[in-house]
Amino acid sequence: MTDLFSLAGKRAFITGGTSGIGRAVAEAFVAQGATVAVADITDGTAIAKEIGAHFVSVDVSNEESVRKALQQAAELCGGNFDTVVLNAGVGDVGPTFEKTKQALIEKVTKINHWGVLYGLKHAPAYMNDGGSIISTSSMAAFINLPGAGVYSAGKRAVTSMTEMAALELGARSIRVNCVCPGYTATALGSGEEGQKLCEAFTALGRVATVDDMAGVYVFLASVASAYMTGQSLKVDGGWGCGPTEKLLELVTGDSAAPG
Ligand SMILES: NC(=O)c1ccc[n+]([C@@H]2O[C@H](COP(=O)([O-])OP(=O)(O)OC[C@H]3O[C@@H](n4cnc5c(N)ncnc54)[C@H](O)[C@@H]3O)[C@@H](O)[C@H]2O)c1
Repeated sequence: MTDLFSLAGKRAFITGGTSGIGRAVAEAFVAQGATVAVADITDGTAIAKEIGAHFVSVDVSNEESVRKALQQAAELCGGNFDTVVLNAGVGDVGPTFEKTKQALIEKVTKINHWGVLYGLKHAPAYMNDGGSIISTSSMAAFINLPGAGVYSAGKRAVTSMTEMAALELGARSIRVNCVCPGYTATALGSGEEGQKLCEAFTALGRVATVDDMAGVYVFLASVASAYMTGQSLKVDGGWGCGPTEKLLELVTGDSAAPG
C-alpha cells in the first residue's frame, strides 16, 4: 500500500518557517521526503541549512515581497510547489477595541490577514495542479478572549478566505484548508499563562507542542486528505468543546453540570 503521508518528490514553501510551528512543519515535511523552502522576515539561512531546507526572505505584509519570495523559492527548489503553507503571523493582542492603538490594528491586520491574502493571491501561479495550500488560523477564530479582538478578527478572516479560495482553486484540484491551533508553546505563545489557561480550559489539560501541530500539516499536504478542501481544522486540545470538569468545579464547586 502507498504511504498515505509521504511527501516524497513534492516541493513545499512555508512562511514563518524559521521558528515555532512553521519550523516544526518544515522539519516534518523534510522528514516525509519533501524539498522545502522556508520564508521568513527573520534571517533563517542557518536554520534552513540545519533542517535541510532552502531559505528566502519575505515580509508577508508586502504583496510584492510575497510574489518575489515564491518566485525565488521555486527557482531554488527546482520547480513549482505542491504545498504552500501560509503560516507567518504575530500574536500581538490589544486591550479592548475602544483602547486598541492604530499601530497595533495595522500591524496585526497587515501580517495575519493581508499576509495570508497575498499568499492566496500569488501562490497559485507558482503551484502545480493538484496541490495543497494550508494557512495557519487560530482557535481564536472561534473562541473569543477579551482583548484579542483584532487578532481574532484576522484569524476568522483566514477561515473565510480558506473557503473562498477552495471554491476558486477547485478547478485546478488545488485544495485549500487551514489549521486552527490552540495555545502552543512557541515564542508567540503565552508561556506560563497559556499553560495555566490550557490546564483549565482544554479537555487534554495541557498546552500544545509544535509537534502536536506538525502532523496535521503533513496530513493536509498529503494524499491522505485528498478529498478535503475549504476546511478549518481545530487543533485545540478540546478547548472548543465546552467547559471542562475542572472549570465547572472552580465555578460551582461541582464537576458535573448543575441538574
Ligand atoms: N503559538 C500559539 O499559541 C498559536 C496559537 C494559534 C495560532 N498561532 C499561529 O501560528 C502561526 C505561527 O506562530 P508561532 O506560534 O509558531 O510563532 P513564532 O513567533 O515562533 O513564529 C512566527 C514566525 O512568523 C515570522 N513572521 C512574523 N512576521 C512576519 C512577516 N511580516 N513576514 C514574514 N514572516 C513573519 C516570524 O519571524 C516567525 O518566524 C502564527 O500565524 C500564529 O498566529 C499560534
